[in-house]
Amino acid sequence: MKITIIGAGNVGATTAQILSEKELGDIILLDVVEDMPQGKALDLKQASPIYNYYGNIYGTNSYDDTAKSDMVIVTSGLPRKPGMTREDLVKINGDIVKSVVEQTVKKSPDAIIIMVSNPLDAMTYIAYKVSGFPKERIMGMAGVLDSSRLKTFIAMELNVSVENIQAFVLGGHGDTMIPMIRYTNVAGIPVTELIPKDKLDAIIQRTRDGGVEIVNLLKKGSAFYAPASSVVEMVDAILRDKKKILPCTVLCKGEYGLNDIFLGLPVKLGRKGVEQIIEITLTKEESDGLNNSANAVRELCHTVQL
Ligand code: NAI
Ligand code: 2OP
Repeated sequence: MKITIIGAGNVGATTAQILSEKELGDIILLDVVEDMPQGKALDLKQASPIYNYYGNIYGTNSYDDTAKSDMVIVTSGLPRKPGMTREDLVKINGDIVKSVVEQTVKKSPDAIIIMVSNPLDAMTYIAYKVSGFPKERIMGMAGVLDSSRLKTFIAMELNVSVENIQAFVLGGHGDTMIPMIRYTNVAGIPVTELIPKDKLDAIIQRTRDGGVEIVNLLKKGSAFYAPASSVVEMVDAILRDKKKILPCTVLCKGEYGLNDIFLGLPVKLGRKGVEQIIEITLTKEESDGLNNSANAVRELCHTVQL
């Protein structure tokens, strides 16, 4: 398998590291900055003899080297800086994503694309429009990360293993995301039996603010270890044809009463990409939350000029 990562910054390089350790395929790391992806790829390659993994990683500034990729992960773009509105970021990263996706699809017309650049839902929409790819082969990573944050906070609160927590987050990657508490359990026990409402509400809010909390601590840049791990879980599910159900940002075509919008939903991932969107019954409150999230994403997508 050939996996291309566009953007060799924090998320892109960390994704390359985890992917190479999992031996999921040959990795191409591309960036606009000259020599930097080559340097990071060589450094990663030199790590491979230590654990004896197959370290076929190559850094480049040319799309020629990405030809015939099976998977492309797009992490190129700027993080939001103080004073910058979401619309400003849509404009800047939107232009980057447009150019990157145009060049990518010319070289890899059969690839499956995972978008990571923010604002995630709008960038995935742009990539879909620009690529002309079928909806099965284009998706965004956010739900796996947001769900992992929710699971982490629940495990911390109860002092139990993270392996015991089943939880997922739906909706857009932003303030309107919906942690699905009704479906959250700890070793099969509904979380509401174990954590009082006020503490659970605080955990929900901390999950929604999960990205900002890390930004405030780092002072420069945003989260990348958990985001990269989340991308790899999706790549692994696809390339190993696992048929794994994960929350991913996908195009709705009537599911949940929504149309022509990218939103985080539970999907089955396999070798064809998004193989099924799983429809679950929502309460009125959950359904209102999803519609509210869809409206926020729609508003942002309206600012996109294609
Ligand atoms: P970073 O700044 O460390 O890396 C971004 C890289 O993109 C830089 O190396 C830059 O040179 C490169 N780049 C810029 N324009 C390019 C172009 N036209 N072609 C190729 N490469 C280009 O940022 P980081 O931390 O890696 O984050 C990347 C993006 O992912 C940001 O937009 C961030 O907000 C987003 N993100 C999204 C998450 C999610 O849950 N979806 C989680 C974490 C980050
Ligand atoms: C995060 O949630 C910045 O979207 C990124 O950490």
